[in-house]
Amino acid sequence: MSLITLLFFFSILPLSNSTPLKLKPNPLPILPLPTSQQLQWQLGSMSMFLHFGPNTFTNSEWGTGKANPSVFNPTHFNATQWVQIAKDSGFSRVILTAKHHDGFCLWPSDYTDYSVKSSPWRNGTGDVVAELASAAADAGIGLGLYLSPWDRHDGSYGKTLEYNEFYLSQMTELLTKYGEIKEVWLDGAKGEGEKDMAYFFDTWFSLIHQHQPGAVIFSDAGPDVRWIGDEAGFAGSTCWSLFNRTNAKIGDTDPLYSQEGDRFGEDWVPAECDVSIRPGWFWHALESPKPAVKLLDIYYNSVGRNCLFLLNVPPNSSGLISEQDIKVLEEFRKLKNSIFSNNLARKAVVKSSSVRGGQDLQFGPKNVLEEGLDRYWAPEENQKEWELFLEFKDSVSFNVLEVREPIQMGQRVASFHLEVVNIRSGNWERVVNGTTVGHKRLIKFPKVKSRSLKFVVDKARTDPLISYLGIYIDNLSRNTSKTIITRTLQEQQQIHDS
Ligand SMILES: *[C@@H]1O[C@H](CO)[C@@H](O)[C@H](O)[C@H]1NC(C)=O
Ligand SMILES: *[C@@H]1O[C@H](CO)[C@@H](O)[C@H](O)[C@H]1NC(C)=O
Ligand SMILES: *[C@@H]1O[C@H](CO)[C@@H](O)[C@H](O)[C@H]1NC(C)=O
Ligand SMILES: *[C@@H]1O[C@H](CO)[C@@H](O)[C@H](O)[C@H]1NC(C)=O
Ligand SMILES: *[C@@H]1O[C@H](CO)[C@@H](O)[C@H](O)[C@H]1NC(C)=O
Ligand SMILES: *[C@@H]1O[C@H](CO)[C@@H](O)[C@H](O)[C@H]1NC(C)=O
Ligand SMILES: *[C@@H]1O[C@H](CO)[C@@H](O)[C@H](O)[C@H]1NC(C)=O
Repeated sequence: MSLITLLFFFSILPLSNSTPLKLKPNPLPILPLPTSQQLQWQLGSMSMFLHFGPNTFTNSEWGTGKANPSVFNPTHFNATQWVQIAKDSGFSRVILTAKHHDGFCLWPSDYTDYSVKSSPWRNGTGDVVAELASAAADAGIGLGLYLSPWDRHDGSYGKTLEYNEFYLSQMTELLTKYGEIKEVWLDGAKGEGEKDMAYFFDTWFSLIHQHQPGAVIFSDAGPDVRWIGDEAGFAGSTCWSLFNRTNAKIGDTDPLYSQEGDRFGEDWVPAECDVSIRPGWFWHALESPKPAVKLLDIYYNSVGRNCLFLLNVPPNSSGLISEQDIKVLEEFRKLKNSIFSNNLARKAVVKSSSVRGGQDLQFGPKNVLEEGLDRYWAPEENQKEWELFLEFKDSVSFNVLEVREPIQMGQRVASFHLEVVNIRSGNWERVVNGTTVGHKRLIKFPKVKSRSLKFVVDKARTDPLISYLGIYIDNLSRNTSKTIITRTLQEQQQIHDS
């Protein structure tokens, strides 16, 4: 017996009591599936947007492109502070407005003099993109860049071929000089009455993927990540990552289609919810950040509805994130942790209506109490019912349900509900109804108390798979939870009506 064979025998011996000799294969994934870049993006949950540029100094939102570069002078600029705050607050990426509509470049582009080169900041030798890239790499968080298609400064704007060449040359600088880029963010924004010209999106997308194969491209209509369709940060209560790219045109999308996605969609294009911590996207001395409970509410309605939460936190004119915003972010992190760090379901005994291949260790219901996409509950094939039961020794009170699907296998669940045994009557009662799940679904309802819970998948595109189940108590967003309960009732009405 060779040494390798011997080692092999030793390595399987300890498992032989518990693991069947032959595993049941995994269920078939259902198309469309996420790419590895999309999967990594989604697991990041939250990104921080950084709107910064001449507008920060001129108290404007949409610069005209005529501001003198001398206004740009962030005397205490510190990209390490931005990145540190993003990381400490739980964000996986930062995305910078390398160029906004005003055309001013935060890096010393060779194709224009309207950039940091012409500013007094560091006597024209500074490079915001380079410093942010280096700080992000040091902290181990991802970097994304926004290069506005609309440019109100450059003379080539309006001349289709010339401008597309100019834009792609700037894009190439950004994608070849600053290391790994995880996301390229584009919008279709063009002012009213602006010169008519075409953006060669297909060429842009191909070039971006060529230079940065690890990046996802965001726009109203994908190709990799879609806009949710509003700037409030709220996804539809039904939210598929499935989508038909051919049904959406950049700059002219149907907001409802963007919010809900498409159960019959052919492409995997998950949604990103962008919203600013302040009323404006750029910093303004007289504006204040939203309270932390509001951010929590947005979290429920973005991350908790199968989307990514892209929160804009604009650095101020000193070049630093403001004290007020830091305080709110810190509080938001604490609120989130205080609720979601304690999954009450962990105390439960979990059972299911069936298990795939009868193989409890591989596909059993206990998997839903463990983090990670690779272990999930899978029901036996061809079942009429798909149910998970949670039994507690003592009754538990809770008002939030979390459900996750292993999305590497495709998005499956189309509707579900939760029931509990009423302590007084002993009957099963419905607590809440929901539609899609996806990567993560969070759903709030008035507090219930019970010892027995039943999570039921009512409809699915194929056999459902559940990778995580959580129940929590949220005492904090009481006021906002009222509005959500109202919305949930409306949803229930809609479900009822259809
Ligand atoms: C920049 O910010 C970081 C993180 O807050 C801090 O440790 C560092 O001292 C700052 N650098 C300067 C030059 O102020
Ligand atoms: C910028 O230039 C001025 C005058 O040439 C010089 O005094 C100053 O030290 C320079 N500042 C930096 C940051 O290089
Ligand atoms: C999306 O594409 C699929 C397949 O072609 C089609 O069945 C579905 O109806 C399309 N959705 C919409 C909203 O057109
Ligand atoms: C910017 O924020 C920093 C705190 O990080 C603060 O010290 C500074 O005064 C602020 N600058 C302005 C112009 O408000
Ligand atoms: C959930 O849906 C069912 C029917 O599909 C309905 O009877 C019930 O009232 C709905 N809402 C709740 C909270 O149970
Ligand atoms: C929520 O409130 C209940 C009592 O009202 C308390 O027992 C529980 O510890 C609180 N939970 C959190 C996370 O604050
Ligand atoms: C809830 O609303 C009351 C009054 O409407 C307000 O005083 C309180 O601060 C709010 N609480 C939260 C957590 O928003």
